[in-house]
Amino acid sequence: MKVLITGAAGLTGAHLVRNCLAGGDTVVGIDNFFRGTRDNIAELLDNDRFTFLECDFREYIKMEREADFDGVYHLAAIVPTRYFYEEPCLTYEVNCQGTYEIFQWALRSRIPPFCQRLKFGNIRTFKGVSHQGNNALSV
Ligand SMILES: NC(=O)c1ccc[n+]([C@@H]2O[C@H](COP(=O)([O-])OP(=O)(O)OC[C@H]3O[C@@H](n4cnc5c(N)ncnc54)[C@H](O)[C@@H]3O)[C@@H](O)[C@H]2O)c1
Repeated sequence: MKVLITGAAGLTGAHLVRNCLAGGDTVVGIDNFFRGTRDNIAELLDNDRFTFLECDFREYIKMEREADFDGVYHLAAIVPTRYFYEEPCLTYEVNCQGTYEIFQWALRSRIPPFCQRLKFGNIRTFKGVSHQGNNALSV
């Protein structure tokens, strides 16, 4: 499978990239290093099946009007750290508006089978609920 992982240099994203590569997937990872670091993915950068793009996922989906991915894991988010509280507008733009935009983009790109392949990591962040329970939603 060819998958897109946003937030690829983050805590969860870097593990997911590693797991997908180990499972034989081809991975395009995006991160703007808002919080994630290059160190988190350093040992993965030499993998031929991994392409890393340092950019904002919202810019990426504007440039790539459509794409041929089999799945999208959307983990880019501003998680409840100090930024979450200090930058409420940015948090809204990235977590809410940005997720809506990538949802629309995935629909336009007809990523198959859409229902099972678009996973949101930041539903919990939207709701501001506790760190317990299932936070991934298949749509
Ligand atoms: N850490 C956990 O235990 C855990 C568990 C399950 C789900 N989640 C969810 O997974 C998501 C990621 O969590 P995390 O702990 O990995 O956080 P994280 O901050 O480590 O990762 C988020 C990544 O998104 C990147 N990012 C932020 N805005 C971006 C943008 N506009 N464009 C591109 N990249 C951007 C950041 O640089 C960062 O690397 C969150 O929604 C979180 O709620 C986290």
